[in-house]
Amino acid sequence: METLFIGANVIFLPEVDSTNSYAIKLLKNVNPPEGTVVHAANQTHGRGQRGNVWNTLPGSNLTASVILKPSFLPMRKQFLLYQISALACYDVMAEILNDSQFDIKIKWPNDIMVGRKKIAGILIENFISAGRIEYSVIGIGINVLQGEFDSKLNATSLQILSGVHTDVNTVLKLLCRYLEKYYLMLKNGKDETISSEYLDRLFSYQDQELFEIKGEKIRLEVAGVSEDGLLILRDNTGAEKLYDVKDVKWLL
Ligand code: BTN
Repeated sequence: METLFIGANVIFLPEVDSTNSYAIKLLKNVNPPEGTVVHAANQTHGRGQRGNVWNTLPGSNLTASVILKPSFLPMRKQFLLYQISALACYDVMAEILNDSQFDIKIKWPNDIMVGRKKIAGILIENFISAGRIEYSVIGIGINVLQGEFDSKLNATSLQILSGVHTDVNTVLKLLCRYLEKYYLMLKNGKDETISSEYLDRLFSYQDQELFEIKGEKIRLEVAGVSEDGLLILRDNTGAEKLYDVKDVKWLL
């Protein structure tokens, strides 16, 4: 690894229930160094956002969790961890794909999209102590070699897009490098740069999308993201409202 600490210690597992769950157990039982990566070839119970499952073809995709100890970060700033993780995944995609040829974006809060299809997902689990984030487990799933997806998933992979075989370990190395870059920015207090880079890459920014809110389907404009990570949507009268992940669903 060409990094200082992220990925200096990689635990590779041929199979595990979920790399996030394994990383959480490590944190409870031993004291893994910051930057430890849990990487599995296959997950039997991969977990996604909103309690969803994250299923991938064994051996084809990247499923890994990175252990961070951002005790410098107050709880109210936890959205910055989502932003740096999404930016790191974005940079990995941009480096592997030719980013002028592909429209790579971050769909709030932290899905990585190419065009209108999802290529990577992130599940972050934070452990708070005395108002600070003591530990953070950044779980990342990147579709690398999988050739086909259930059409309902609306997903794609690096192999499908580029037609080129990319080694999963190469993707992991890049991910560690970019995550370290953004994490060091965060440690150095570059919150505004991080948030503005995130906004620059925001999926459908200033465009209308169809959402489901309180059981109703409605087209609204993506007007931005608040400092505490809420999605700002604007209706056709110009009125803006803030939404939490549990209150709004994208209908792509
Ligand atoms: C999502 O988009 O719903 C988030 C998916 C996150 C999947 C990754 S794969 C590695 C890590 N371990 C898990 O169980 N989930 C995350």
